[in-house]
Amino acid sequence: MNSTRFPRALWVLAATLGMALAATAQAADKAKGEAKANEVCAACHGKDGKTPIDPAYPILAGQHKDYLARALTDYKIESRKNPIMGAQAKGLSRDDIQNLAAYYASLPSDLAVRK
Ligand code: HEC
Repeated sequence: MNSTRFPRALWVLAATLGMALAATAQAADKAKGEAKANEVCAACHGKDGKTPIDPAYPILAGQHKDYLARALTDYKIESRKNPIMGAQAKGLSRDDIQNLAAYYASLPSDLAVRK
């Protein structure tokens, strides 16, 4: 074995493994999102994310994942202020937020732009 080739091969392997691990870490877990949603959020937003207990409460089902994650992060850091959602978002981790956003975004919905 040539001594300059081995380290290069190892570097490529390490880089590939690193990318695989990073991809795994970033993948949102919808099942975890669903569990958390049923445990906490369904009480107000409805079990399907679109039949809230109060018509003034927003529909989450089918909303864009990035929008949901941003809204939850903004409540958490209080750049979007709402006493109810602020209290809800406080205890959510970054992973919780990604998982919840992925779950609600995946639900069937009638959300649409009015024509
Ligand atoms: C006690 C009732 C209640 C609970 C529990 C609750 N929410 Fe909410 N949620 C609200 C209300 C009220 C609003 C509207 C707040 C506002 O006007 O900003 C809201 C708004 C939101 C929004 C913003 C939607 C938009 O269109 O901008 C998101 C996202 C959201 N909730 C997600 C969640 C998630 C995820 C959970 C569970 C961790 C949760 N909520 C739990 C009442 C609740």
